[in-house]
Amino acid sequence: MAQVAALLVATSSGRGLAEELTAHGSYTSLVEGPDGVPKVLLGVNGQPVLNHWLAAMAQCSRLQPLDQKVFILCNEVNVDAVRAWASEPAFSGGGFPLENILTNGADDSLGLAADVASFLAAAPPSVSGRSLLVAEADALCGPCFGVARLVEHAVVRGKDTVIYMAAPEGMSLEGHAVVGLEDPRTAAQSASQRVVGLDAEPCGAVDAATLTPVLAPVAMLRPEALERLVKTVETGAASYSSRMGGLIAALQPGNIAHPSMYAMPLDCFFRLTDAYNVALTSNFYAYYAAEKAGFKGDAARALEASRRLAQLHEARTAAGGSAAAGVRLMAEVEAARPPEPCVDKELRKVFRGFWDGWLRGDRHHDLAAMAGRGITGASVLLGGSGGGMGHSGGGVKAGSTMPLRFADATTRRHGAKEQHAVYTTTNNTYGLKPPSQVDMPLTYTAASQHFTKSFPVTAPKSSSLVTAVTKSKVHKALDDF
Ligand SMILES: *[C@@H]1O[C@H](CO)[C@@H](O)[C@H](O)[C@H]1NC(C)=O
Repeated sequence: MAQVAALLVATSSGRGLAEELTAHGSYTSLVEGPDGVPKVLLGVNGQPVLNHWLAAMAQCSRLQPLDQKVFILCNEVNVDAVRAWASEPAFSGGGFPLENILTNGADDSLGLAADVASFLAAAPPSVSGRSLLVAEADALCGPCFGVARLVEHAVVRGKDTVIYMAAPEGMSLEGHAVVGLEDPRTAAQSASQRVVGLDAEPCGAVDAATLTPVLAPVAMLRPEALERLVKTVETGAASYSSRMGGLIAALQPGNIAHPSMYAMPLDCFFRLTDAYNVALTSNFYAYYAAEKAGFKGDAARALEASRRLAQLHEARTAAGGSAAAGVRLMAEVEAARPPEPCVDKELRKVFRGFWDGWLRGDRHHDLAAMAGRGITGASVLLGGSGGGMGHSGGGVKAGSTMPLRFADATTRRHGAKEQHAVYTTTNNTYGLKPPSQVDMPLTYTAASQHFTKSFPVTAPKSSSLVTAVTKSKVHKALDDF
């Protein structure tokens, strides 16, 4: 059986992010490092990022036992925080062996390729000659992600394997790498595709008409590829990018001089590079949890319906005014989209739904973002104080609860009435706009009920017998007697 090990690379510094998040005021890390928030310890869905990765690895039998085969590479600055995480079973889900936490000896990432090379130089002898699963630990591959599929493919087929996500419409490609697939048209039907090239620095945004496979932050490299990687690093030819794109580019996939690489699809992945992406990630996890729990408020559903209606309206205008032509146009646009390669259709659908909302500005799914607004539960989940900074301006009393109807503006019923176009008042124009999150109150102080409770509710009521005939107000045939 082929020997496999895994490396979580946690070397990229969280310096800029720490400042951004503090300014945001709504995220708390479980363990505070000297550099602010170590990205790999940020709480996502109530768990540090590293725990999500360990869970993804735990379900791969080839990586068992985890404490012999999984390693974490830190930098000099965040290593103490990660060690603190590892030695506290409550944080790390049962503890993680301290000797498996290494550092790259620098304050920041040396570039992912160089980091992996420094790990190979310092790793215990049991790792040499093994295939290595390399993951950027400050990224996440969605809920319920497991590495087994990737590892099995690499081991059984004996190929270096990367994974990619079909980028959703409107995603910015900056900071990502785009994988060249051998036959993109059949990508949705095939389990894996040969990689014919890699664009490590694409730009622009994704449009829906073509499949754009963006490289996910995890890959499986065989010993031969690792050797090649070390050589490239030694000659100084590897890029300094701390992302997977830089590392894979150094291996020149698609170059006929090298053994071919394969790419498999993935439903979604996230990077925790800046406050925007942290918010995106935790919003998605919260949204996913709500969808899984089957919770979707009536108003949220109505809002979705109204969005569909707006889309139809647009299509109708584009089609020249006829509703039927509008429907046909929408169906055509839908059908013209290439089928998307994915693993779990359900998860992909949730991701697409979330992404559409996100692009339209829905930012309300996240409990964490509400921690600062006095929503209890969120602060407990995140292990933080939820100290009421940021939006609430410190007005929230510790322990006060914001009812959910104010916490999430989209759940509000909005019965706007349209007036006749000739007589429309400005007040009506205002009133047509649905309330947004900024219109919601920041504090909530419930009435004390003191007065109501002062009634003698236990006083005897009249329980005497009514002897009069009950007369119907409608017809005398209905008289009750
Ligand atoms: C419009 O709303 C304002 C503020 O509520 C109110 O004072 C005013 O009387 C309203 N105007 C009309 C024409 O109803």
